[in-house]
Amino acid sequence: MEIRASKESEFEEIINLICTVFVEKCRPRYASQIYHDSSFQLHQSRVCVVDGKVVSHVRVSDRAIHIGRSVVRLGGIGMVATLPEYRRQGYASALMQDSIAYMEAIGYELSLLFTAIQPFYTKFGWATFPQTNFELELRVKKQFEPSSWIARPFDVERDLTQISQIYDENSKARAGTVLRSEGYWRDEYSRQVGILPSLVVEKDGTIGAYANFGFPTDSDGMDAFLATYYPNLREVGYRSQHPDSLLALCHAVLVSTRERDLTSISGRLHRHHPLIALLSEESGSQPSFSITEGAMYRIVLLYSLLQKMIPEFEARLESRREDPTPTSFCFILENQVCTLKVNHGKVTVMDDNSGRTKVQIDTHRFLKVLFGDATFGQLEELNRFKELRLEPYEIATLDALFPKGEPMHWICDYF
Ligand SMILES: CC(C)(COP(=O)(O)OP(=O)(O)OC[C@H]1O[C@@H](n2cnc3c(N)ncnc32)[C@H](O)[C@@H]1OP(=O)(O)O)[C@@H](O)C(=O)NCCC(=O)NCCS
Repeated sequence: MEIRASKESEFEEIINLICTVFVEKCRPRYASQIYHDSSFQLHQSRVCVVDGKVVSHVRVSDRAIHIGRSVVRLGGIGMVATLPEYRRQGYASALMQDSIAYMEAIGYELSLLFTAIQPFYTKFGWATFPQTNFELELRVKKQFEPSSWIARPFDVERDLTQISQIYDENSKARAGTVLRSEGYWRDEYSRQVGILPSLVVEKDGTIGAYANFGFPTDSDGMDAFLATYYPNLREVGYRSQHPDSLLALCHAVLVSTRERDLTSISGRLHRHHPLIALLSEESGSQPSFSITEGAMYRIVLLYSLLQKMIPEFEARLESRREDPTPTSFCFILENQVCTLKVNHGKVTVMDDNSGRTKVQIDTHRFLKVLFGDATFGQLEELNRFKELRLEPYEIATLDALFPKGEPMHWICDYF
């Protein structure tokens, strides 16, 4: 068995392997990841070769994500596949170990993957993270008042600059969204996986809001993966200074579903996104929510992660009225240890265990606080149960550093 980076001469063999293991109809998507993702490099496709044959494969996509104002590097694991006749011989496990070493060497702070076989990845240090789906039955067909905002299809040359501005503005207030450069928006691969919005609302040349939504019935040109497996409403953005544009977008989405005689709309948005409330009010239907734990993150380099978050931590402290008591924490996360000191609005991160209060925490709970899914205050009962006891002033400081937020990873950024 040989574990190594892929070679150009192996591209078709890799794509065939992935089509054999997953689904043939998604071949354009798999091929595009290799041929059309401009960030792709040979060493991102890791292969296991037995007797000259590629029998198992893991891909590590190069991405960066926002955690508020901070940007951290993320290795996106995907296309984990072993040919059926070579399974249960440790090949995929060896590739996962290799991918971890590879990500550490490159300097990724985090890794993310999406899966239905969580126990396989738990063994290697990935932990699940929740994502919220909503569904709305559409019963009543209401007429809507005309709006000063005009809804129309997205046009790449005319609209992309404004869409990416809205995207960046929205991302800074969230955790987990992928950093999208102009190259990323315009990449052939991004088009293949449907990153471009379908609908915008505009007034006097200003785009107020956009949506990326699609329907299985519009199969022409749509990525088979998205068309088959994912909800209609895949992404929404709007300018916070033009909240009325979101109402116009909501009407356009409802009209669009109605024109297709669809009886429900589904999406992956955070629980309190205003568009869900608007869709509910304007359609006269109540949304139902479900939580999936198909996303899994791994903390690759804790020290580097906390270092990169210093500007965000300090901005969070500055926005508080009260200056927290100076203190220091020693985070102990699986086999990684790191100290975070807070002193009059300044945050220092050190690669040692000198922090006074020991915060021994598993990856699952750490991810919750890192992405704002829960705070230390909210986890207090669970933390006590897991024998992590913190004083009220320590919880207050940790809640200032890790406040509640609305984490988001848009579906079209899957790898
Ligand atoms: C998952 C997969 C890559 C594992 O490849 P492999 O080379 O056989 O993996 P290894 O021999 O290193 O490890 C086998 C382990 O995989 C785990 N595994 C495989 N399929 C699994 C499944 N459907 N659910 C849970 N665990 C699974 C088992 O825990 C098994 O361990 P065991 O032998 O101790 O029971 C392979 O089964 C495969 O290609 N499956 C179809 C594609 C897929 O599901 N890929 C992952 C998408 S996120």
